[in-house]
Amino acid sequence: MRTKLSVNINKIATLRNARGGNLPNLLQVAKDCEKFGADGITVHPRPDERHIRFSDVYDLKKIVTTELNIEGYPNEKFLQLIEAIHPEQITLVPDADHVLTSSEGWNIEEHFDFLQAIIFRLKKIGTRVSVFINPDVKQVLSAKKVGADRIEIYTGDFANQFQTADKMQLIKPYADCAVEAHRLGLGINAGHDLNLENLHFFKQQVEPLHEVSIGHALVCDALYFGLQNTIRQYLQCLQ
Ligand code: PXP
Repeated sequence: MRTKLSVNINKIATLRNARGGNLPNLLQVAKDCEKFGADGITVHPRPDERHIRFSDVYDLKKIVTTELNIEGYPNEKFLQLIEAIHPEQITLVPDADHVLTSSEGWNIEEHFDFLQAIIFRLKKIGTRVSVFINPDVKQVLSAKKVGADRIEIYTGDFANQFQTADKMQLIKPYADCAVEAHRLGLGINAGHDLNLENLHFFKQQVEPLHEVSIGHALVCDALYFGLQNTIRQYLQCLQ
């Protein structure tokens, strides 16, 4: 199956915010990512708005023509944003307010009632709901029970160990999660620290894989290869 590439543009907002103006222009970058072949745009507005601002999300909704995926911790302000915007996909992450970046998935059993109520609320507006989990088959079963449509598997540990570990052993829990999720009728997304070195192997071994969302490495690669060429290379890894 073809795996979709959603480009996370948080880093573009970080660069813009460094000077307080509108350079680079976030909306233009989102449009260009789509023009260069991205299948979606991902943003992760955090409570302190240090990269994506809540106002950016409203602006992006007006111009994104592929799929808008909004990631975040579901506090009331975030949920109201989602209800106002109706993105195609929302990815629920368990981040505390000031974490540098998402570094683990939900323990769904521990937050079951909380997540179930939120998913019920979000389903009313017709948004696809994905839950961010570690590569653990138990969490896949819980994701199904709690009412999610998809899982997003946290790939940070895979990426960190990719150069040194036994690759087949490393990938096994991710592949197992995908098989189990598919059996249960859940879609499978993945993300965090995926890059041009590890993405093709991940794609080959994890089947099915509906979508990857990639930001940090892709933006860094774009400094050297340019955005169009970089997106083309990431799409090639997914073939
Ligand atoms: N998925 C989630 C839930 C994230 O929080 C992030 C980072 O914002 C990503 C994917 C993308 O990770 P990276 O920027 O390392 O590609």
